[in-house]
Amino acid sequence: MSNKIQTLSGYIHEYAKSVQDPEHFWSRIADSFHWQKRWDSVVEWNFKGPDVKWFTNAKLNITENIFERHLYTLGDKPAIIWEPNNPDEDVRTITYKELYAQVCQFSNVLKAKGVSKGDRVIIYMPMVPEAAVAMLACARIGAVHSVVFAGFSATSLADRINDCKAKMVLTSDGNFRGSKKIAVKEVVDEAIERTESIEKVIVLRRTGQDVNMKSGRDIWWHEAVEGVSTENKAEIVDSEDMLFILYTSGSTGKPKGVVHTCGGYMVYTTYTFQNVFQYSQGDVYWCTADVGWITGHSYIVYGPLLAGATTLMFEGVPTYPDAGRFWAICDKHKVNQFYTAPTAIRALQAYGTEPIEPYKLDSLRVIGTVGEPINEEAWHWYHDHIGKGKCPIVDTWWQTETGGIMISPIAGVTPTKPSYATLPLPGIQLAILDNDGKELTGNSVEGNLCVKFPWPSMLRTTYGDHERCRQTYFSSFKGYYFTGDGVKRDEDGYYRILGRVDDVINVSGHRMGTAEVENAINEHPKVIESAVVGYPHDIKGQGIYAYVICDMEGRSEANLIEEIRQTVTKIIGPIAKPDKIQIVPGLPKTRSGKIMRRILRKIATGETANMGDTSTLLNPEVVEEIIEGAQ
Ligand code: WTA
Repeated sequence: MSNKIQTLSGYIHEYAKSVQDPEHFWSRIADSFHWQKRWDSVVEWNFKGPDVKWFTNAKLNITENIFERHLYTLGDKPAIIWEPNNPDEDVRTITYKELYAQVCQFSNVLKAKGVSKGDRVIIYMPMVPEAAVAMLACARIGAVHSVVFAGFSATSLADRINDCKAKMVLTSDGNFRGSKKIAVKEVVDEAIERTESIEKVIVLRRTGQDVNMKSGRDIWWHEAVEGVSTENKAEIVDSEDMLFILYTSGSTGKPKGVVHTCGGYMVYTTYTFQNVFQYSQGDVYWCTADVGWITGHSYIVYGPLLAGATTLMFEGVPTYPDAGRFWAICDKHKVNQFYTAPTAIRALQAYGTEPIEPYKLDSLRVIGTVGEPINEEAWHWYHDHIGKGKCPIVDTWWQTETGGIMISPIAGVTPTKPSYATLPLPGIQLAILDNDGKELTGNSVEGNLCVKFPWPSMLRTTYGDHERCRQTYFSSFKGYYFTGDGVKRDEDGYYRILGRVDDVINVSGHRMGTAEVENAINEHPKVIESAVVGYPHDIKGQGIYAYVICDMEGRSEANLIEEIRQTVTKIIGPIAKPDKIQIVPGLPKTRSGKIMRRILRKIATGETANMGDTSTLLNPEVVEEIIEGAQ
């Protein structure tokens, strides 16, 4: 814990050192880990390729840094506290020693079932400790996990399996989600029909519902582990070997597999976890994300466990059995650090303060947010009613691609400002560029958020398509990593994220590509063309507005709209379901046939007073018609 920054001057000092001599800075941090072989150089990089390597030729296993490194001192300490969906079901507390045994045992199972170093394993599971066991067991044998959020459809799951040619799927019979029971195994079965690479499926019994077990392919988890040794020697891998692939949406239609590697990811997630949340031994830390997203990877599983922390995992939803559930859990487990998304705060805010009243919330010391900009009203509500005015809010800006938190207050150290992610963490060299690629220096500037120097947990490639990685992140501004976000640096040098500047919308903190939703809508046989934009939504941050041209023959508008919604749910999953669908006679297009999204965004936002110049459009008359029918 010696790398913990404790004062503002300490932060300023560390930040300066990290920029003046990054190699020395990161090698000092990396020295606190257990490496089987030390690195030859700290970082080798160029953003042209891009080609980025951290801790070159170092050898390690990330799980040795969770277990072997901690067992003597922390073996009997809880690693995971699991809170089930149903508050009447028993809590599970798993110590470091117990988790170690489970991970070793499951590593042996994976190997026995044919998974070896470098193979890809899909994890499509509920929020149960076995999901973490599955991830860590893959890491222990050098296999590459790709966790797919269990709300994604069979089509989305099949696409991901095919993209990374996974050998195995780890799943459950069903998932509990609030009052619902979701038939997860059925989705997996349907997905696998469209794939060729899957050899085995291991199924955790969770809900007890009936499932079809395909003989020769499907195995029950509890049967697979029976009698298997709980000892396993970790596979020693290279610092730059792949740790995991996580699929995320971009501005083009197909989600891309963001690749993270072992050494740098380990160092950076631990460092940021310790600093941002100011975790002290004995604290209980809770992040409400799902392991299907990067937040769950870095700040439920890897960061906290690498730091020897106690991480709480919650299976359910914030409103079940009632809107006080989060606060009940905070009191029940005496949570010290609580990390959630603005959309959850806004959703709970809508219930008023009554659901909070029965709870003390006096164990909380740090509260955090991630995933989307937090509006000032929600920030104050969170600060006053949850943090009781005494907990610093860490508004953490980062991305699937960055692997770890990039801009954030350090709790209790950095003075906060509502809606500001504040300052970059040590090692993070930001740049704001105008649309011509000129770096805007000094304060009170606004533009495209870029990073000009590598950091240990940055993405290395997009799986199977390095050119796509270069195109997406390193080609807009030569020599910089481009985040896709707009940002303002105010008069104090503080950063405020303004949201995406590309065709990505952020719905309840989940990234959706407009093209991806359009492709799904277009699958409906009556749809001729569609255009999707985001618009401000009170709870979700952004909602999905779809303009659709349809062949209406023999159909009612209401039916078609409902069918389109179902098509999107089927193709992507419920999270991509449009909030508003408007059937339109045409879409505004330029003379070269490009859809003018700017106009559609204005209509969706209700800003129709000033549409700008529409005379250059191919079909200016359609704009009025769309405005008339707007919702
Ligand atoms: C947005 C989530 C404002 C941003 C870790 C980014 C934020 C995208 C914040 C990444 C924040 C994330 N304030 N916006 N604190 N955190 N974002 O990959 O637009 O799911 O580019 O990673 O979420 O989403 P992702």
